[in-house]
Amino acid sequence: MSEPFEIVSLATPVADAALAELADVLIDCVAGGASVNFMSSFSQNEARIFFNKVADGVASGDIVLLAARLGDRIVGTVQLGLDTPPNQRHRADVKKMLVHRSARGRGIGAVLMAAIEEEARRCGRWLLVLDTVPGESGHRLYLRAGWQQSGTVPDYALFPDGGLCDTAIMWKRLK
Ligand SMILES: CC(C)(COP(=O)(O)OP(=O)(O)OC[C@H]1O[C@@H](n2cnc3c(N)ncnc32)[C@H](O)[C@@H]1OP(=O)(O)O)[C@@H](O)C(=O)NCCC(=O)NCCS
Repeated sequence: MSEPFEIVSLATPVADAALAELADVLIDCVAGGASVNFMSSFSQNEARIFFNKVADGVASGDIVLLAARLGDRIVGTVQLGLDTPPNQRHRADVKKMLVHRSARGRGIGAVLMAAIEEEARRCGRWLLVLDTVPGESGHRLYLRAGWQQSGTVPDYALFPDGGLCDTAIMWKRLK
């Protein structure tokens, strides 16, 4: 049986050690070819800068940050972006769903998604939106979790190695 994992909400102030582990997860995902905003030249320092900004968002209440712990290490994460305009306070963005390659295929992504949806409900947000590369592992995960696809935008972004990828716009209504 595989080692159990737990999902935790990282409250402010997010510890330096946690930020370093989150940065490691992001670096690993980019190294694995995931199109998650960064190119393959991405450094540990840039990953830390990214998560420092996320920690600022947690402090301001604009972001809910979840982490999956396996043993004594963070191996996965997902964010809920609450910083929506005044006419979209019922909505939130699911962002940066990431699981370290060493921990994939045991349901961590699925449980992170269920947990972030629960956070959205807790915050009174009942419409969720995200975008993802069609046909990739994230896209399959979201379809399994009951997300709908509105369509695709061709050539929306780059993979870390520079190749173009499409994006699928997805949404889920929680009520
Ligand atoms: C997308 C991502 C977060 C999924 O994380 P994960 O923890 O591996 O997700 P799950 O374990 O829930 O599901 C992954 C696969 O394992 C399978 N699985 C889940 N639990 C399992 C279990 N107990 N035993 C065997 N297989 C299992 C799922 O069916 C799924 O299969 P598929 O890849 O054929 O669709 C991960 O692949 C990732 O970080 N990718 C790179 C970053 C990225 O692209 N993120 C999305 C950005 S929008």
